[in-house]
Amino acid sequence: MAEEKSFHMTPDEFRRHGHAVVDWIADYHSRIESFPVLSQVKPGEIRASLPATPPAQGEPFDVLLKDVEKLILPGVTQWQSPNFFAYFPCNASGPGILGDLLSSGLGVQGMLWSTSPACTELETHVLDWLVTMLGLPEKFLSSSTGGGVIQDTASSAALCALLAARERATNYASNQKGCDGRIVAYASTQTHSSLQKAAMIAGIGVDNLRLIEVDENFAMRPDSLARQIEIDKNAGLVPCFVCATVGTTSSNAMDPIPKIARICREHNLWLHVDAAMSGTAALCPEFRHFQEGVELADSYNFNPHKWMFTNFDCSCFWVADRKALIQTLSILPEYLRNQATESGAVIDYRDWHIQLGRRFRSLKLWFVIRHYGIEGLQHHIRQHVQLAQGFAECVRNDSRFELAAPVPLNLVCFRHKAGDAANQTIMDRINRSGDLFLTHTKLNGKFTLRLCVGQTNTQARHVEKAWKRICQEAAKLTPG
Ligand SMILES: Cc1ncc(COP(=O)(O)O)c(C=O)c1O
Repeated sequence: MAEEKSFHMTPDEFRRHGHAVVDWIADYHSRIESFPVLSQVKPGEIRASLPATPPAQGEPFDVLLKDVEKLILPGVTQWQSPNFFAYFPCNASGPGILGDLLSSGLGVQGMLWSTSPACTELETHVLDWLVTMLGLPEKFLSSSTGGGVIQDTASSAALCALLAARERATNYASNQKGCDGRIVAYASTQTHSSLQKAAMIAGIGVDNLRLIEVDENFAMRPDSLARQIEIDKNAGLVPCFVCATVGTTSSNAMDPIPKIARICREHNLWLHVDAAMSGTAALCPEFRHFQEGVELADSYNFNPHKWMFTNFDCSCFWVADRKALIQTLSILPEYLRNQATESGAVIDYRDWHIQLGRRFRSLKLWFVIRHYGIEGLQHHIRQHVQLAQGFAECVRNDSRFELAAPVPLNLVCFRHKAGDAANQTIMDRINRSGDLFLTHTKLNGKFTLRLCVGQTNTQARHVEKAWKRICQEAAKLTPG
């Protein structure tokens, strides 16, 4: 019989091209400091360089790889550069990349335990490991009432927490009947914008997400929270949820969890703790005090894809009461029924998040934890914190600059005293130069520069260069 025609890549071709891709990635990481950190292309430039129509016939793989170099790389902002200090880190590592590659290689879709038991069980196991590694409460363990799941992002995790809170507060009626406009939730003015999106999606409405005022350190004021809850209750509304943050995006503020948790207990509100970036710091016992009170939380989330060397996307979410989450999100159509599910002996993670399908994300997390060990992870986190603290010291010692917020960990918020326009100029010139990438926020209405240390290979020399470049640009400012 004649062989059937096939356009597929054979295993041998895959091996050859795969080696070339791995070589390309390794070379890319070796030369990453030679590229501008912030991509310098203009809007539309990348698309204009691409063919208008798709290829009618397949092309050789080496041509594809050459096009990545020629057409794509100029449009890449170098998140993995050690000179990337913008937003928050999204760091990656060799073991993380290889774990992700293996996940693609296995091509597993782990929506049910039975669709790949290893995908579920490794995830449960690694998330249990992390409970211990981060000093989180035992109730988050799968052997207790709770458990952990890997979500795509902190935004999805917060949405799931809010949905479970909404259901718990309405005795699981709002899933059935929809919201009646009486459900209210609470965050602070500094809480990440994903909570507003969650309120929109959950049908609670942005007007019913109360943004509680913050103190002089940008942390939520528990007294204001308590007052607002009373006002809402007296108005016949149904408070259901509070989000406290360990390390706000804007300034790394730490909300006072113990006080917030006590208020939540008193009013039977779901407490979600968002530690998207700063949660990683809890790997080091000396930084765990920032999450004190987490033992009273109903859910907790941190992103290994931010600061724990695990390629995007990987966001770990724990709940204290998995039944509440599952009851909120579970739907079992006939075509997904199977014996393992019916037995009740397995976890089906499709019930723990929004989407049905799921990738084998725990592989990369497992690889990262096993490659570095707790010791290696702690070493690099401590190093990043130390570098940020050193940078803050430079700011403190320079009379032209001031710190704009406390520096608890790896984020420094600072500004030149010459005002908003001067800071904008410093930032724009530096970013245009491609030497490093900084972003800004507004604190107390003032334009504020942010330097966040968290890239995998950032070392003292990179932070020193950043400070030198900032000083150079400051020296060029025209007086007045
Ligand atoms: C505190 C905090 N929460 C949530 C997020 C959103 O993260 P994600 O992109 O994983 O949804 C971020 C990052 O931007 C953050 O800093």
